[in-house]
Amino acid sequence: MPHPPRYDRLSVWLHWLMAALLLAQWALGWWMTGIAKDGTGARAWWFNLHKSLGLVLLALLALRLGWALLRPRVAALPQRPALQRLARGAHHALYALMLLVPLAGLLGSVFSGYPVRFFGLRLPLPGARWDAAKEWLSAAHHWSAWALLALVSLHVAAFAHHQFVLRERLLQRMA
Ligand code: HEM
Ligand code: HEM
Repeated sequence: MPHPPRYDRLSVWLHWLMAALLLAQWALGWWMTGIAKDGTGARAWWFNLHKSLGLVLLALLALRLGWALLRPRVAALPQRPALQRLARGAHHALYALMLLVPLAGLLGSVFSGYPVRFFGLRLPLPGARWDAAKEWLSAAHHWSAWALLALVSLHVAAFAHHQFVLRERLLQRMA
């Protein structure tokens, strides 16, 4: 298949929609853990919103990965092969983390013993409380979320370098 010079419309929509939702989800996760357990249900409400949004992101990722496998691969930027491999590797790592972060969150929630609700609808998941697994998965969720944020920062820095220093019209490829 020939390599198109830019991303197709669906890929562009998914990229920007998920970028916005992921950053909001990250901030929400970080903020909500500081809400007091005061018996008003506020903490549970925000936790449920975070879980629901996380499941939406997981579904969007499934669509994105499926589509990425079906569509022709976009032409690499004209740069040294080593840098092309580095960019590809970084994009693969972003996909891997976009999968790992919500999976750890979901499994951790299953082992917390609380029911997982999707915008109010209780999901038919086995609600087995297992404290050791919950603790381990919470740590995995925490550290993979930080790794995702670090890699996204590098991604945006690489974008800015190509766009503003090398003056390649990178944004047109993802617009
Ligand atoms: C302001 C924030 C962002 C900017 C300016 C940006 C910009 C871009 C651009 C221009 C490309 C195309 C690269 C190319 O032409 O080869 C791209 C690709 C990509 N971006 Fe972003 N991005 C942003 C945020 C994010 C976030 C939050 C994620 C999620 C983790 C993300 C994940 C990806 C992935 C996985 C690709 C590769 C797509 C593929 O080839 O399958 N980006 N980004
Ligand atoms: C890509 C999507 C997601 C991102 C970026 C994200 C991000 C975060 C962040 C940054 C925290 C704070 C971590 C800490 O301070 O330890 C957090 C906490 C949490 N997240 Fe997520 N999350 C995502 C998806 C999910 C999903 C799908 C679930 C469950 C269905 C979930 C459940 C939780 C829970 C229960 C906490 C509280 C801390 C814990 O018990 O582990 N998250 N999340």
